[in-house]
Parts: sequence; C-alpha cells; structure tokens
Amino acid sequence: MGRMTRREVLAMGRDLGAGLAAGAMLPLAGCRHGGKAAAGPMSQSMVLAPSATAVGLGSLKAHAVNANLLYGCAVDVKQLRADQHYGALVAEQSSIIVPENAMKWAALRPTPELFDFADADYLVDYAERNNTKLRGHCLVWHEARPKWFDSVVYQGNARQIFTEHIGTVAGRYSGRMHSWDVVNEAIDVKDQRADGLRVTPWLQLLGPDYIEMAYKTARAADPSALLTYNDYGLEMDDAASEQKRAAVLVMLRRLKTRNVPIDAMGIQSHLTAEGFNAAPRRYAGLMAFISELSGMGLQVFLTEMDVNDGALAGDELQRSHAVAQTYHNYLTTVLGNKSVKAVLTWGITNKNTWLNYDKRFLRGDGHQQQPLPFDGEYRATPAFFAMRDAFDGRGMVAPVASSAQEADPYAPFTPHAAGDMPVKPVVAPTVQSAPVPAGPASTLPAMPTTGK
Ligand code: XIL
Repeated sequence: MGRMTRREVLAMGRDLGAGLAAGAMLPLAGCRHGGKAAAGPMSQSMVLAPSATAVGLGSLKAHAVNANLLYGCAVDVKQLRADQHYGALVAEQSSIIVPENAMKWAALRPTPELFDFADADYLVDYAERNNTKLRGHCLVWHEARPKWFDSVVYQGNARQIFTEHIGTVAGRYSGRMHSWDVVNEAIDVKDQRADGLRVTPWLQLLGPDYIEMAYKTARAADPSALLTYNDYGLEMDDAASEQKRAAVLVMLRRLKTRNVPIDAMGIQSHLTAEGFNAAPRRYAGLMAFISELSGMGLQVFLTEMDVNDGALAGDELQRSHAVAQTYHNYLTTVLGNKSVKAVLTWGITNKNTWLNYDKRFLRGDGHQQQPLPFDGEYRATPAFFAMRDAFDGRGMVAPVASSAQEADPYAPFTPHAAGDMPVKPVVAPTVQSAPVPAGPASTLPAMPTTGK
C-alpha cells in the first residue's frame, strides 16, 4: 500500500461525506439491543447514526475476524452507564474491550481496607451480555495510585498489600478474562538502572522481583487469563524506542528463563501522526522486536492505539487524513506478523479521548484532536476506514488483483496510477466478510490458552 496522494485524500473526504449522509437517518444499530427510541424524533436529534457501511459486516470487529484478529477499544464505564448509544456503538464494533480506568487501583481501592468493584463488575457484565472478550488493565502500575497509597504502604506491609490486591482482583474475575495487563510500564531507561527498570514505589518497596511476584500471583488467581506485560514508547525507529525495546526484551527473557508465567506483550501504540510530507515510517525496529517476542512464544496485542495530531497544522479534514494514514501504515506493517492477535484503540470516539482532556496533549490552537475511529456523533472517521482496510489487507481476504481495484470499496487506500479511474464511493463491502458469530465469545478467533 502506498501513501495517499492529495487526490486520494480529497476523494476520500467526499466518499466519507457520502457514506455519512447515507447513514445519517438510519436507526442506531444499538437500538436493536433493546433501545426503544430508534424511530422517534428524539433519537435523531440526540445523536446521528453511524455510517451505513460501518455496522454489521462492515464493522471493525467483522473485518477483524477475517484477519484472524480481535478488535476493540478502551471503555469509559461512566459513559457506558450514562449513554446507551455509546454502549451500542462499542458492542457493534468490538470483539474485545478493556476498561480505560475502572480496574486501576485508584478506582478499585477507595480505602486501604475496601475494594469497590461496582464499575468493574458493570463492565464485566456488559462484556458478557455482548459476547465481547475482556482485557483487564492493570494490576500493577506506578500511576493511578489511590490517595492513601503513599502514606499507608511501607516495606513492612508492601508485599502483603501487593499480593492481596492482585489475588483479590484477578481472582474475582477468574475464568472470565481474555487477558490481564499484570504489570504496566515497568521499563524506563532514563532511570539509568542496569536492568532498565523504572524506579517506582513497588520497585523501591519490594525490589526488582516485584515483577515476578506479580505474574505468579496473577496466575495463581486466574489460571486462564493471558498474562501480559504492557508498555509504551516501543514503536518508533529512533534511539529512545530502540533502547526501550532492548530493555523490555532483557526483562522478558529473564522472566521466561525463570519460568515466570507470562503469555503476551502489549504494545500500547500511542502514536503521533506522520507529517503531511514525511516519508512513511518503516517501523523496522518494531518489527524486529515483534519477531523476537514471537520467537519467545509470546502473543502480541496492540493495546492502546491512538494517533496524536498535536504537532500538525492543517484543517480538520487534512489532519483526520494524516491520522488515518498513520493508522494505515502502522497496521499494515505490524499486522504482517501473525503473532499480533488483537488491536484495541484507546477509546472509540474523538469526543471521549484522553488526548482531548489530558493537559499534556491539548492542541495549542484549541482544536480537538481526532485520534479515533468515530467522531463525537458516532460517525465513522477516516481512521475507521484506514483500520478496516488494514485488517482486510492481512491476508485472510484473497489478494486483490489490479483488475479488482475497481471493486475495492476502500479505494482511497489503494494506490492509483496517475490518470486512472476515479476513486469509488465508500459502499458496503463486496468482498464477503464472515459474519461475527452470535454465539459465545469462544467462537471468535481462537486465542491459544495458557496451557493451564
Ligand atoms: C489514561 C486514561 O486514558 C486517562 O483517563 C487517565 O486519566 C490516565 O490514564 N497508558 C496506560 C493507560 O496504560 O492506563 C493510560 O490511560 C494511558 C497511558
């Protein structure tokens, strides 16, 4: 797949507009799931429907099935409780979800003595009702510590509090989780330790073996979840990413050598948008890293994908296409390795993304970032079509011969010779996608078990 030309970018904007207009008056897909307002004027004024081509067989999860992939997103449980349309969109698109915050210590531990599972339980229940797999995130992290943490936890009780938390949380949902991010973001080469470990409260309280302890405790509490190590800053072709990848590999090899139960690597995939005129990124170091992971028998998940356009000027449409191009280049590259089993975006709509409320990421010009596959009115964005096309390109769909180009519903991402036919409007796919099984979650692409 080549870069989009300017003509293709513009054509894509037109196509997208046409698709959205066609879908604008449809009842919301989610209303099939029990909503009663589908035909009423309220539903139309409250929220626009997703593009007709983006639901059912056109959804990300349906196209992911064909690519032997799970697709899903991080879910904001507060919004899930408040907005049935959001819940419908997430279920329509996702075969796997992860709580954005509801399973972090700060959410689960109002006091040192208490666990509050209300939001976490709500999400587990939602996932099961919708036949959606669930990732747990995260049992150990240096951030999202409860307010009481630093004044309560000390060397004398740290081990007990640490193992109790992991055992209680992983144990509560044992047998119901696809995977757990057991340890999140434990590597930071800037902290200058020989082992590459980030200097965190847990490292200081328990020493470097806290990592091993976490995985063993999690396995004992939930023998069937795929135990994952999750981190960011691994993706780029630069020295910082290269050093971090090397340090992660050293840690993972050590864990494997010591028979620590670990099954998967989560590559967060928080990306910045590629520049309008920049050469496409190659991700050569990342691909070598993924090969190493695969050679160690680890599955790979892209766990928190989004694309930050904060460094780009340009109008909204131009930026949304740069974001889409970034998705497309990244996913077509990374999905080339068959060990990659799941892609999750960090949120699903541009209205509800940390990039638009975390002060570190707000655009200087006051415009909204557009990092995700749907906009604030639940319409598919260029990033949606880019992801879907990348899924289709993974090889489960018969290779598209040049004569088939005309029938390609995702033509904006198909390289065109100068002067050839105009780009086709985005229409329902003619390439047949397998329907998403309506049965239990286990009928989705088989995830190897942990062997337990
Ligand atoms: C972020 C959430 O999106 C925010 O709502 C919260 O305020 C901070 O945490 N890496 C991770 C995620 O592993 O848990 C973080 O989520 C984003 C970076």
